[in-house]
Amino acid sequence: MSPLHVTLTLPEDATDAALRADVLRGLTATPKWLPPKWFYDARGSELFERITELPEYYPTRAEREVLAARSGEIAAASGARTLVELGSGSSEKTRYLIDALPLSAYVPVDVSESALTQAGGALIEERPDLEVHALIADFTAPLALPATPGPRLVAFLGGTIGNLLPVERAGFLASVRALLAPGDGLLLGTDLVKDERVLVRAYDDAAGVTAAFNKNVLAVVDRELGADFDPDAFDHVALWDAEREWIEMRLRSRTAQTVKVPALDLAVDFAAGEELRTEVSAKFRKEGVTGELAAAGLELTHWWTDAEGRFALSLSVVR
Ligand SMILES: C[S@@+](CC[C@H](N)C(=O)[O-])C[C@H]1O[C@@H](n2cnc3c(N)ncnc32)[C@H](O)[C@@H]1O
Repeated sequence: MSPLHVTLTLPEDATDAALRADVLRGLTATPKWLPPKWFYDARGSELFERITELPEYYPTRAEREVLAARSGEIAAASGARTLVELGSGSSEKTRYLIDALPLSAYVPVDVSESALTQAGGALIEERPDLEVHALIADFTAPLALPATPGPRLVAFLGGTIGNLLPVERAGFLASVRALLAPGDGLLLGTDLVKDERVLVRAYDDAAGVTAAFNKNVLAVVDRELGADFDPDAFDHVALWDAEREWIEMRLRSRTAQTVKVPALDLAVDFAAGEELRTEVSAKFRKEGVTGELAAAGLELTHWWTDAEGRFALSLSVVR
């Protein structure tokens, strides 16, 4: 069995410095916000896995349906020998690709070390022939990939691209393009615009798992920066912005309160009812995806959806 290579690509204190910078910027802004990558400590990653199993959360099932049906076509079209997966999490759906592609190497990239080591450990047992190079890294920062055989396919699944704001998406797609050579490809999972009730339910489930996931960012800031957020003093909010075509998750302060963040020497006032934005999840249409890919120098060659047309997987290539 080849060993699991785990590379921490960030300097030791980078995570801490990035969290401090984001918390300072986001909690002193109007309106307040925090970036979604801070949800994903070990508990957050576990809660996300539970979300993927909820009856209301259709994206994972819909994307799995497409992967199960189309992995053979994806393998034929890309011929990829290296699969790089951004925001790989549990790599659960990725198994369809790993089984279908003529792979030598799999490079999962995630900020969650616990998700990477669990998924990578299981994979090297199942597939001793496969080189697994796990990268603990922020996919919004420049990535240094290991030298592995081409062609290379970069997969970005789960609709995670929707968590980037439009201007961030453009920069992100340009940096993905920079990782690719002619003949390489990008496999992108995008959740599609649909009935508002279906969308909102997917982010506000009856069992309250998404609410716990949303509030987990407060627990991360408490633990890492010594803050005194009381997660019970906030309500989980999910709403559809019809103009921007995205879901927003927010945390609404139940009362007027002041939260202290000692590591930043910061006191943050919340008015009763004031909201803190923790995530956007943009929903897409085919024309928009095609245009954003083209702007980054990627040509869309395939567009597949599940039978109900809820979620799309697209393959684009560098000519
Ligand atoms: C919505 S989940 C999707 C997980 C998996 N790809 C799926 O389809 O179920 C987003 C994943 O991206 C990771 N993530 C979020 N922001 C990240 C960032 N800036 N850099 C690297 N990984 C990130 C999270 O830890 C999580 O595993």
